Amino acid sequence: MKKDLLSLFDLETDDFDYLFNRAIELKKRHKQGIFDQSLAGKSVGMIFDKPSTRTRISFEAATIQLAGTPIFMNSGDTQISRNEPVEDTARVLSRYIDCLVVRTYSQKLIEDYAGQCTIPVINALSDQSHPCQILSDLMTVIEYKGGYQGLKIAWIGDGNNVAHSWINAASVLGFELVLSCPEGYTPDTDILDRAWARNTGIIRVTPDPVDAVADADVVYTDVWASMGQEDELEARMALFRPYQVNAKLLDAAKKDVCVMHCLPAHRDEEITHDVIEGRHSIVWDQAENKLHMHKAILETLILKHKNH
Ligand code: CP
Ligand code: NVA
Repeated sequence: MKKDLLSLFDLETDDFDYLFNRAIELKKRHKQGIFDQSLAGKSVGMIFDKPSTRTRISFEAATIQLAGTPIFMNSGDTQISRNEPVEDTARVLSRYIDCLVVRTYSQKLIEDYAGQCTIPVINALSDQSHPCQILSDLMTVIEYKGGYQGLKIAWIGDGNNVAHSWINAASVLGFELVLSCPEGYTPDTDILDRAWARNTGIIRVTPDPVDAVADADVVYTDVWASMGQEDELEARMALFRPYQVNAKLLDAAKKDVCVMHCLPAHRDEEITHDVIEGRHSIVWDQAENKLHMHKAILETLILKHKNH
């Protein structure tokens, strides 16, 4: 049966570990100049309703570097923009391509594509979650810290889609995740409740960013207003200011703390210029790893590798 990647909550520890190991192996092979051709003859369709630099280009490059063909679809140029039903689009695309990568607003729309497609569907970001991002982020954490077990990860800022995928991952893998968000901007309670019900590790929400960052191994932040919320930025600014990741806040963390940001970043809003460019920042390696992780995801779902 085909498998989709819609939410990290659906993965088991084995699935995560397989993807981490394979992505690290593929990265090594890429650096050695080895041209893998595992996706030869395969096509990867991509529907993006929101802008993207990293996710789009790394999925396209990943497909090409594995000898497959990416087909980028601007929804506006397809019959989707003229309200062709999802079930019709999904059934037709399933006859042409081997995998569908979707970035859109509604998580339900991605789930609807997955429900109707006979090919794997990958969530490349919705308003609710960003699972591929956290897979490559955790790969980066493993490279820097040697693993994820026993770590404390601090999330600072908006309880948004990226935060939700961190919660999903922590609920499966059991590392400590402490999220500090302003009142009214904490993560979705259903997502938290589902994670807590799993009772795997420590997932905690606190209004105090210093409490979250205390002795943290990783400090992670993201924009204060996500795509589609641009009009709210002005109003959010004052409320979010105490949640800026700056040198003073980092004093509370471990000496060898890694600072992460999924990017794009707004310097001197959620993160200061000196911190994103400073010695703790690993954001460029983090961005690079999207390429390697996306290769591992595509191979796993399209070729039905181990665990799938
Ligand atoms: N981090 C991330 O998903 O970036 P893009 O929006 O550029 O794809
Ligand atoms: N939370 C951000 C992530 C961008 C990769 C957004 O949804 O805009």
